Amino acid sequence: MDPKSQIDLSWDEFDEMRDPRPAANGFDEVVERALSRRGFLGSVLAFGSGAAVFGSGLMSSTTAARAEGAAFKFQPIGIATDFEIHVPEGYQWKPLVKWGQALFSVAEGAYSPETGVPVAMSDKVFGENTDGMETFEADGHVLLAINSEYVNPKINLPAESEGMPKTADEVLMLKNMQGVTVLEIAPQGGTWDVVVDSPFNRRITHETQMVMDGPAAGSDLVKTNADAEGVNPKGTMNNCGSGKTLWGTYLTCEENFNGYFGTTGAMPEGEGYSRYGIGGEGRYAYEKYDARYDLSKEPNEPHRHGFVTEIDPADPQSTPVKHSALGRFKHENAEMVQAADGRIVVYMGDDERGEFMYRYVSNGSWAEGQPTDGLLSDGTLYVAKFNADQTGEWLALTPETTGMPIEEILVFSRMAGSKVGATTMDRPEWIAANPLKAEAYCALTNNKNRGLKPNAGGDATPVGGPNPREANNYGQIVRWQPEGGDHGADGFAWDLFVMAGNPEVGDGAYMGSPNVTAGNMFNSPDGMAFSSDGMLWIQTDGEDSNEGEFAGMGNNQMLVGDPETGEIARFLTAPNGAEVTGLTWSPDGKVAFVGIQHPGGSWPDGAGKPRSAVIQVWREDGDVIG
Ligand code: FEO
Ligand code: CA
Ligand code: CA
Ligand code: CA
Repeated sequence: MDPKSQIDLSWDEFDEMRDPRPAANGFDEVVERALSRRGFLGSVLAFGSGAAVFGSGLMSSTTAARAEGAAFKFQPIGIATDFEIHVPEGYQWKPLVKWGQALFSVAEGAYSPETGVPVAMSDKVFGENTDGMETFEADGHVLLAINSEYVNPKINLPAESEGMPKTADEVLMLKNMQGVTVLEIAPQGGTWDVVVDSPFNRRITHETQMVMDGPAAGSDLVKTNADAEGVNPKGTMNNCGSGKTLWGTYLTCEENFNGYFGTTGAMPEGEGYSRYGIGGEGRYAYEKYDARYDLSKEPNEPHRHGFVTEIDPADPQSTPVKHSALGRFKHENAEMVQAADGRIVVYMGDDERGEFMYRYVSNGSWAEGQPTDGLLSDGTLYVAKFNADQTGEWLALTPETTGMPIEEILVFSRMAGSKVGATTMDRPEWIAANPLKAEAYCALTNNKNRGLKPNAGGDATPVGGPNPREANNYGQIVRWQPEGGDHGADGFAWDLFVMAGNPEVGDGAYMGSPNVTAGNMFNSPDGMAFSSDGMLWIQTDGEDSNEGEFAGMGNNQMLVGDPETGEIARFLTAPNGAEVTGLTWSPDGKVAFVGIQHPGGSWPDGAGKPRSAVIQVWREDGDVIG
């Protein structure tokens, strides 16, 4: 394939190009086509279904409760198709930090609207394509840790490079524009500004030295020429969603790491490469200029990426830790909660068509002020199995259940999940846990192959359960309530909070669930976070053509859902071309920080290159925003 065209693909399209699935098989019955909208949804949708669940509350919402209205503090807005941000009346927004903005005074003025950032300054500015982020406080300072997911080479590189690096320096520039930024912010007249030259400011990139812990650390699978012990991997990449530990550190999640590796010679042996979409020519030609990315020279380097990596934002000298115990896959985010007995529980999605949802449970327990050693290195990884009767269970991935040694379970977690019969999902993106009750939500963004093609490991993707729509172009949000209200329990009950759809132009299942209306429709839910008042904020990364089956949905957006009533209201619309991803709040809850990734046009500067940015949104009356 022409390398110039492969950088224009979405990651989803890149997966398909790299690893075309076998053609359709025996399960392409279109069950739901025969069902009415309500008949189709009645068995899996919360509202009014009355299905049996563990404990109480999950499905107790009634028509009466819905009629009372959700507790939205804002007037929902309409769709947009322009290159601006829109927020409700009584709210304001402005950028907090944009791609190329200086974190250190030495880089002030380095960004040019025509040429971007020079390579020498590329690790001293805010990275490109902002994604997951979290807020921290350290010694009276307010810090943000923010992911920069991937690079757009056409924006970062000189025009003559035509979107592909031509030198080692250009590869370094692209690597530096990814990773994580830690920066200090300070209040300034009701909003916030970046503190240039703060001692907390830090860039963590492909080049940053890390350590690995957990059972795969030191195994032969992760040893390289530069690290014969297999415990000192370098770099984090394709940092997508985020998480925050209960002890106040940052979790950055390595998602589409596969695309950075390629080979200049023979492919190494091993079935793990194809399951993860690794092989052939790298998406950005890094392997031509840096042997670390060349599979013919460093066959184990990709086995050191695709992990959840922990960073202490309060200590700029700290070494990030790659936690092998949480498994290796295309990690979306990491939502940490606690079991009733104090064990640490982390929910995680693997964002690829037909891949799985995971849960990690520590062996040790934790309480405020106690040591955290071993909590993310000594535990058990599980995969989710959803049953048609709205129950489900977490299946442990152990040598006994999989027949695989523990280091293979952790490095090739997808293959372990296939062995125990995990449920193939419609691209699990962010998982968010309700702070007010024991339940969690996962955005299943879309899956055009549902019911049509197996996953990369050959597992069937039948229509049903929480993935009930063939050729699912709109996505849905599944939620579950653990048995006994304990996130440490292995059983759960589930339902669908929403099936996105188009009630105007769709029919049957493609109309979406009853809580989707002409006034709030959207597609491809992705980012999610709960505000402290128990409202679910939903960000989208979907088709924004506003045409055909997407007519009436407009640009990507952020909505707020009420878990109790099921109502959903549109809060923000993004510039055309952008997705909305990443959400955190100022410590006082009065300002929301929202990520705008890959905007189109010349947003937000109005001229020159488009710049991904974190914006801040606040209420004119100064009240809390969420
Ligand atoms: Fe980086 Fe699955 O989103
Ligand atoms: Ca995402
Ligand atoms: Ca997405
Ligand atoms: Ca993205």
